[in-house]
Amino acid sequence: MKFLHVLSIALATLMIECSASQMHFKIPPLKSGHKIDRVEISSCSGPDAILQMNSAALSPSPIEYPGSVVIAMDINTLQDIPEHMEISLDLTLLDPFEIPVPCLGGLGSCSYKACDLVTTMPEVFCELLPVDENGVCSCPIKAGHYVSEGLVFVLPDLGDLFALLLQGRYDGEIQFHAGGNKSEQYGCMGMSFEIIKPE
Ligand SMILES: *[C@@H]1O[C@H](CO)[C@@H](O)[C@H](O)[C@H]1NC(C)=O
Repeated sequence: MKFLHVLSIALATLMIECSASQMHFKIPPLKSGHKIDRVEISSCSGPDAILQMNSAALSPSPIEYPGSVVIAMDINTLQDIPEHMEISLDLTLLDPFEIPVPCLGGLGSCSYKACDLVTTMPEVFCELLPVDENGVCSCPIKAGHYVSEGLVFVLPDLGDLFALLLQGRYDGEIQFHAGGNKSEQYGCMGMSFEIIKPE
């Protein structure tokens, strides 16, 4: 259980739910020598999705930990996103056998209120969303076209043990859905990625 706990915390730090204090967020340029191979992010949205992904990718591939990840995306929201929208992560570790990554202590395969994320991590989301005259971005998210060429997330370096535990291949799905109702889906993204420990 302890292993899973550590694993889920580490995994979660690689996803979008890092607390603002742990994560540094900045726009490129990339560190020189960064690999530019990309993990393609696929759409698993239904036909009625109001969140439509034109393209999305994560780099480098494989992801190096410790290191940083860059997320590029081009997304249309066809309607204003309801304020109660939740984002649910569903992560599976594939090696040496499939292990669903649990949600523990708010990290891992967890659900988050989208507007809470925008409010608590403005330095991340205000790069993508329109900002008002005070430089603050608003929630709910309006219908529109949102493009980011590359949001750079510097992953917190939690040490060698973490880096060893994290190595492996993963499947992940991010679902955007109504608060408290996963069946009312607004959009969905899937990706497969690998984490390695750089030399
Ligand atoms: C959840 O959403 C689905 C699809 O929109 C709907 O059919 C169902 O009634 C909803 N459930 C609740 C409890 O609101």
